[in-house]
Amino acid sequence: MGKLDGRVSIVTGGAGSGIGRAIALLFASEGSRVVVVDVNDVGGRETVDMIRGGNGGDAIFVHADVSKASDCENAVREAVKRYGQLDILVNNAGIDLPRLSPRLTSLRMSLIGLLT
Ligand SMILES: NC(=O)c1ccc[n+]([C@@H]2O[C@H](COP(=O)([O-])OP(=O)(O)OC[C@H]3O[C@@H](n4cnc5c(N)ncnc54)[C@H](O)[C@@H]3O)[C@@H](O)[C@H]2O)c1
Repeated sequence: MGKLDGRVSIVTGGAGSGIGRAIALLFASEGSRVVVVDVNDVGGRETVDMIRGGNGGDAIFVHADVSKASDCENAVREAVKRYGQLDILVNNAGIDLPRLSPRLTSLRMSLIGLLT
């Protein structure tokens, strides 16, 4: 018996090869049905395939940009439409500024310097 049996979870950023996917796989292995939400369709579907192929878990992918309210509302609607309930939200999607540009890192450090 899993710790999340009977639950339905949304994991945003679930396509990422990092934290989001790991959470989605862990939740599925604990019995949760998982709604994988991401802007990355290929990665999102891969996560769903891993869940379904692993130990017969149940998951769907919903394309959504979490910076858009209408996309978030749609993801919740799709979760409830498919599973009839929603219990857990893992708000993981995001980006790491330093990975985008060293110049942004430098700007961020300068701003922190001004504030401290
Ligand atoms: N990896 C770390 O060491 C670390 C440390 C501190 C915080 N974090 C934060 O944890 C989160 C996950 O990190 P990760 O390393 O697994 O990242 P990752 O890049 O592997 O995954 C991030 C996922 O979020 C998705 N995403 C980005 N913007 C989105 C949007 N607007 N709408 C929907 N999906 C979106 C990406 O497509 C990707 O699949 C990020 O917010 C990151 O900033 C990570």
